[in-house]
Amino acid sequence: MAGKSKTAKLIIGANEIELPIHSPSAGANVIDVTTLYNQAGVFTYDPGFTSTASCDSTITFIDGYKGELLHRGYPIDQLADKSHYLEVCFLLLYGYLPTGAELEDFEHRVTTHTMLHEQMMYFFRGFRRDAHPMAVMTGVVGAMSAFYHDSTDITDSWQREVASIRLIAKMPTIAAMAYKYTIGQPFVYPLNNLDYASNFLRMCFAVPAEEYQVNPILSRAMDRIFTLHADHEQNASTSTVRLASSSGANPFACIAAGIACLWGPAHGGANQACLEMLKEIGTVDRIPEYITRAKDKDDPFRLMGFGHRVYKNIDPRARVLKKSADEVLELLGIEDNPLLQVAKELENMALNDQYFIEKKLFPNVDFYSGIILEAMGFPTSMFTPIFAVSRTVGWISQWKEMIADPQVKIGRPRQLYLGETLRDYVDIENR
Ligand code: ACO
Repeated sequence: MAGKSKTAKLIIGANEIELPIHSPSAGANVIDVTTLYNQAGVFTYDPGFTSTASCDSTITFIDGYKGELLHRGYPIDQLADKSHYLEVCFLLLYGYLPTGAELEDFEHRVTTHTMLHEQMMYFFRGFRRDAHPMAVMTGVVGAMSAFYHDSTDITDSWQREVASIRLIAKMPTIAAMAYKYTIGQPFVYPLNNLDYASNFLRMCFAVPAEEYQVNPILSRAMDRIFTLHADHEQNASTSTVRLASSSGANPFACIAAGIACLWGPAHGGANQACLEMLKEIGTVDRIPEYITRAKDKDDPFRLMGFGHRVYKNIDPRARVLKKSADEVLELLGIEDNPLLQVAKELENMALNDQYFIEKKLFPNVDFYSGIILEAMGFPTSMFTPIFAVSRTVGWISQWKEMIADPQVKIGRPRQLYLGETLRDYVDIENR
């Protein structure tokens, strides 16, 4: 940890307890409560981790009030503009921007691991055709530990590295195959002379009966979407990966746990939910009705793609994606897309509404991504799998950081117990 000079005093009855305060390189100080139970016999209570740092990390920093997202110190808008996904993967994994030779070597390692063990094809075929691709991905990624035994020993740094490369390389293949399976088309194998994003597009949209040319506009847009979703510090799915891994579980099992968590509509599933909401609204004149519903405490409806636990300002990724949506739709000649019009007007009305202003609710990354993905030809069910492909590197980077830390302990939260106290068992005839 960075600094450890200040202390906080906690007074509980007649007891005064001193707790160290750690200073980060950026962001809020943290009070270290690890000795609290031993010193005072009390726990802290923070459901949903609203005020709790669960680990220390050097990978990603978010300033939610400024709307700033940094990977290893580099702002996300610069990375989205000047870099590309595999370079950002290198940055997240190893902590610095690669030289030309290092990047070439990394790209080579990733592209030579894109194929799946052929036996896995039978595993896909066990699923129903109408399964959600996220359900298929959770199962297939979990099953990787049954196919790649030689990279499951987490105490071996070489095996950890191989597992990392395998996951980053194979995830687009798995997502594309999950899609092809649900639409009844043959699997398209990866083509390693294509870049990461182009390869993914080809595996999703090519068919054996026709030549497929990757559209460079779509490939750039795909790469940008991957880049913008690559990591986001200790979000729900990343924390799930860390918690699963703290027990010593193998990397494939941990990433499958992350995928399962990402699927929820409050997290990665929001991109699908957001586009479905925009379609349901349909026209600009119906927006006020939905804004009223979102503000109504008795209505469970929320504006999907709006609000964030950490951002109390516009999500910087949403800013890049809004611009990207304009560019992609214009280049595809569909700039008068009615969904984009509804999204922009909805954003405009919400940002001028007292409820959203007071609660600091702004568009998040999921607000514009679905519009771009749909324009590219993806069905809504593929939005969250694409998020999972992108986020794999973030999960892996955080997992590697955690495993390499000699201080790491099994994650084991405590509780505020409100149930029955000790009582005697009652025989069934006496109840
Ligand atoms: N629409 C309407 N009201 C909202 C919204 C929304 N999208 N988001 C939050 N609020 C309100 C809540 O009702 C609550 O009001 P209250 O204080 O009167 O009770 C207040 O704002 C705070 O909301 P919480 O749910 O307590 O905030 P939390 O930090 O727990 O939740 C979350 C953040 C889950 C993202 C929430 O904003 C949400 O459900 N948004 C919609 C789903 C979404 O877009 N998720 C994607 C997040 S980004 C990602 O995971 C990639």
